[in-house]
Order: sequence, then C-alpha cells, then structure tokens
Amino acid sequence: MRRRASARNATRKRKRSPGRLRGARATPSLAIFGAAPAFAEQLHVGRPNIGDRGRFLARLNDILDRRWLTNRGDYVVELERRIAGLTGVRNCVLVANGTIGLELLIRALGLRGEVIVPAFTFVATAHALQWQEITPVFADIDRETHCLDPRSVEAAITPRTTGIIGVHLWGRPCAIGELEVIAARHQLKLMFDAAHAFGCSSGKRMIGSFGAAEVFSFHATKIVNTFEGGAIVTDNDELAERLRLMQNFGFRGYDRVVYLGINGKMSEVCAAMGLTNLESLDALVECNRANYRAYAKHLAGIPGVRLFPYDERHRSNYQYLVTIVGEDAALTRDELVAVLHAENVVARRYFHPGVHRMEPYRTLFPDAHRLLPRTEQACREVMVLPTGPALSESDIAGVCGLIRAALEHAARVRERLARPEGPNP
Ligand SMILES: Cc1ncc(COP(=O)(O)O)c(C=O)c1O
Repeated sequence: MRRRASARNATRKRKRSPGRLRGARATPSLAIFGAAPAFAEQLHVGRPNIGDRGRFLARLNDILDRRWLTNRGDYVVELERRIAGLTGVRNCVLVANGTIGLELLIRALGLRGEVIVPAFTFVATAHALQWQEITPVFADIDRETHCLDPRSVEAAITPRTTGIIGVHLWGRPCAIGELEVIAARHQLKLMFDAAHAFGCSSGKRMIGSFGAAEVFSFHATKIVNTFEGGAIVTDNDELAERLRLMQNFGFRGYDRVVYLGINGKMSEVCAAMGLTNLESLDALVECNRANYRAYAKHLAGIPGVRLFPYDERHRSNYQYLVTIVGEDAALTRDELVAVLHAENVVARRYFHPGVHRMEPYRTLFPDAHRLLPRTEQACREVMVLPTGPALSESDIAGVCGLIRAALEHAARVRERLARPEGPNP
C-alpha cells in the first residue's frame, strides 16, 4: 500500500473533490436517466504517468543549458543503456514512436510479400506493413491470451509469406516457442510488436529478448512514456547497427551517408521524460496490480462480466484492465460502455471493430472476418476500464457498482438507450 501511495505521489495527484464519487445510489439515478454523473471528472484508460516532476524539470533545464536537443544526446544514450539492461539485450535503438520502430524493423529484416499479423491489435501493427506495400495477412487469436493462435498462423502461410509479427497484447506474452518453431520450419522472420509489454516477461525472460527483435512503444498512454517514443531491442549487433543508420538518414559520422534512411530519432526531452518515468516503474506496476486486485474483488459475482486474467507465471505491468462482457450478460458491451461514459467513466472498446474491418483492410480483404471468429468475438466483448495511480479503491468500487446497477436494471437501461435522443437527456 505504501508503494502504491508513492506511485501516486510520483505521478502527481490531480485535485479531487472529496465527494467526487457520490455514495451508493438508487439505480434509476444513473446518469443515463438524468442524474449527475457519478464522477465529477472523467476517468480515462491510459491517463499519462508523469513521474517526479521536479526531476523531469531538472533534466529539462540541463538540456537547455547544454543546448543539445536531439541527435543522440546524453539522455538518449543513457535511456538506451537503461532499457537494454532492464530487458537483458545487447542493443536498444530509441526511435520517435513505436510505429516508426515497427516500420524500420520490418524494412531492416527485409520483409516483403505477405506477413502474418493479428487483426486484434492497434491498427499500427498492420499499417507499418501496408505503408511499405507489404500485405498484412490476418491470423486469428487464442481465446485465452488474445495473442496469435499458432495454428491459425500456420494455416495462413503461403509461398509469398516472409515473416510473422506477434503482438504481446495487454503485455501478455505470445506463444513465443510455438511461433519460433513455425518460423524456423518455414524459414520466416519472426519479430514482435511489444508496444504493450515494457517491463513484462515470458516466464523468467524479459519481453524484448525474443525473435529477431522487438519493438516497444513509449506513447503517452503506456506504462513508461516519453511523450511520444519507442525502442527497438535486439541481441543482433549487425541488425542494430543497420537500424541506427536507418533512423538517422543513413549518416555515419558528420557528412558520410552510407545507407538509405529516414528521420526516426528520439529527442533529448523525450528521453528525459523516459528516464524520469522509469524511476517510477516499480511503483506504477505495484499500483496497477493493486487496482487489478481491487477490480477482481469488486467485479466478483457480477453475472456476465469477468476480468481478463493475467497469468501469474509471467511478469506483467498490469497497464490494461481488460474485462469481458459475455453473451450471458444482461446488457451488451456497447450498452455498458454507453452507461459508463454517461457517468464520466471513459471505458474503451479496444480494438473494435478489429483491424480487418478498418480501412484500407476492409476494402482490400472484405472476407477476412470469415477466418477470424475469435477476433470477431473479442472485438464484440472486450471492455477496457480505467486504471493507474489516479484511481482509488473507492473509485474502483464505484465503477463496478455502476456496472452492477446497470445490469440489475438491464431492461430499463436498454429501453432508455434505445430512445432516439440518446443516453444524455
Ligand atoms: C499494439 C500496438 N502496436 C503499435 C503501437 C504504436 O505505437 P506508437 O503509438 O508509439 O506509434 C501501439 C500504440 O500505441 C500499440 O498499442
């Protein structure tokens, strides 16, 4: 509990009115029926962690004093060293964001033709391929982990396939061993989108050390953020050297260009934010874990809504609080989300409607959904709830109480939501 409090301090408490969450309410006073929202301020999924503001500002002043703003300054070098150490790999190349990291790695590995990816992911995983005129071929996910199902991957391989991109969704590791076997059997490159998985492991081995290389995102919503940013981590020195050239226009030295490249560099101010956030990582994980346990307690016994579990055999950052609104729930996931939004609880339908149903993929592959039944189901039933240092246990009890109340009065809720004037009268 003490660590949890320190995480809150580290990320700077927001001002809250003591009675922000009003006490237990009679159900008809849900906001969709015209009552004031249960929360005076919005609760968000992925509210940015700030870390120790004083330490960040000291670093910012140092950057300004030294007038070294970008181009692999001391803070970038230091953050690369820290991330490589934490992940247990020899090389870390910091980049401007995770998407650029994926694009660079895809190109550095020489992927072309078709590459197998999940459709239950953030759209950047597929865009990073399509942007380079490589065809993303969508494989289905495993129901228990929400990560690629190796059998579906194997079934999607064609003579044009050159690689597989696994996504450690929610920070849960893919079926890494099985994907390695498939990749070796078909001579495919294997890389991982580890955008969600910083600080996570597969058993005792940290995520970041698998496949040819892995890519982290340090976007503002991630457990460690650099405002915008990402990292490619690998044990392959030659690959890392090529990536370094590619992310800096192909420059080696002051004026010698030896390779085709773009500008994918991280700036010093971003690296300073990353170093500051990293100092709070353990406290943030502890806080997220405590929230996960509180949600487990308060969601228990609510029919049809269950917490998507983290596998305790692996280290997790618990950054995503994932629930499943099953077919046995009295309201649909979308109805519950509408109820919660009216209460200022900004629950999210990740990754609705599925990448295969977003453009340009829905036009390019109109039948993709036929081979993705478990992806389709996840897109229908996943509801991600707010977590992080901004939430107290009483907030969590309040959110779960709203879910319980809505389900207990499902018929009236449904009837209200169906009226043309919408949920907010
Ligand atoms: C699974 C996944 N892949 C890739 C990305 C892209 O990372 P970035 O936003 O840093 O470009 C994200 C999201 O932010 C993501 O969630």
